[in-house]
Amino acid sequence: MSTTESTGTCPVMNFNHYQEMPFGEKIDLYDGLRDEAPVIRNEFANGHYIVTRYDDILSVYQEPETFSNQAVTVFNPNPTYRWIPEMLDGDEHLQWRRQLGPHFSPKAVERLEDKVRSRAVSLIEDIAKRGSCDFMQDFAFQYPSFIFLELMGLPFEDLDQFMEWEHDILHFSGTAEETAKRREDATNGVNAYFAKIIEQRRIEPKDDLVTKALSFQIDGKPVNDEDLGAFCLLMFMAGLDTVSATLGTIYYHLALHQDDRQRLVDNPELIPTAIEEFVRPNNHIGFGAGPHRCLGSHLARRELKIAMEEWHRVIPNYRLAEGSAPTEAGAQLGPSGNVILEWDV
Ligand code: HEM
Repeated sequence: MSTTESTGTCPVMNFNHYQEMPFGEKIDLYDGLRDEAPVIRNEFANGHYIVTRYDDILSVYQEPETFSNQAVTVFNPNPTYRWIPEMLDGDEHLQWRRQLGPHFSPKAVERLEDKVRSRAVSLIEDIAKRGSCDFMQDFAFQYPSFIFLELMGLPFEDLDQFMEWEHDILHFSGTAEETAKRREDATNGVNAYFAKIIEQRRIEPKDDLVTKALSFQIDGKPVNDEDLGAFCLLMFMAGLDTVSATLGTIYYHLALHQDDRQRLVDNPELIPTAIEEFVRPNNHIGFGAGPHRCLGSHLARRELKIAMEEWHRVIPNYRLAEGSAPTEAGAQLGPSGNVILEWDV
């Protein structure tokens, strides 16, 4: 990567970039940056470089000795917290990944198949009767949240609370101060919630990921409560919004491109290939690369596959409702609201 020969500047990516905007504008901005230069210097938020092209991004992912994961957001270059395993480097990271790996393997995901499918079916059958839905609120945010609750052994009654925290941490749109305050309050809420769950699981173990993590060891010692909490928080952030945003992108596209939708309805065996294309064309790095490559990629693919199979079986014909103007807010790429779908009942 030649940082000196071709470095652009980026006057547009600033705090407003994280505010609510019409869906699609962010991707246009990133496309523009890619065309402008392979490396962009942005002075916003303490100053940082943005690597814009596939080969260079891949090199960065694959050079963890040079590019540490200790800081993962431009808003905070010297964090006093760590999201686990995302913000760990080296051997400590490797030890976490070795112990987490079996719980996210294709076999482990296979064991969740029935539960994931029945959750998708019950949500979709309920929505189908209505003839229209607010896709992000009624399906895309709820479905991965249910699966997260299942994985972590948490009660389904807490769904609304989790969705509220998710919104405040990842999608709140307001002034810089309001946004920071909402994010901090919600993060504290998630941390306090998990501190209680960890305490409960120590007394009464369950068949869930929190209980399994209690037996993890790093450097021969049990993981402490602070790190267990940091792991739970990261699971919450990594596993929910990513799947919701991908679902939003998929259904927005299919609602507007009836040929593609019909092809998947007629040939459901094409769904896995379509998912790879939606996450990005093969060979893609939509799930990252190198040591931090997405731990949940098998689960994510399975969630998306089941959602698409069941939705198109029950609601094969749908369109974007007139006046539906999808929005995007926060750091996650993909619609965050106002994807209104309708169909004949
Ligand atoms: C379409 C859905 C998803 C996408 C596009 C996605 C994407 C990514 C990417 C790009 C990374 C790498 C971040 C980095 O290098 O710093 C990552 C890491 C991670 N993802 Fe995913 N993800 C998805 C779903 C999930 C799900 C469902 C889970 C778990 C339930 C999950 C758990 C994780 C974890 C734990 C990490 C951190 C891995 C580490 O640091 O070693 N992800 N994901």
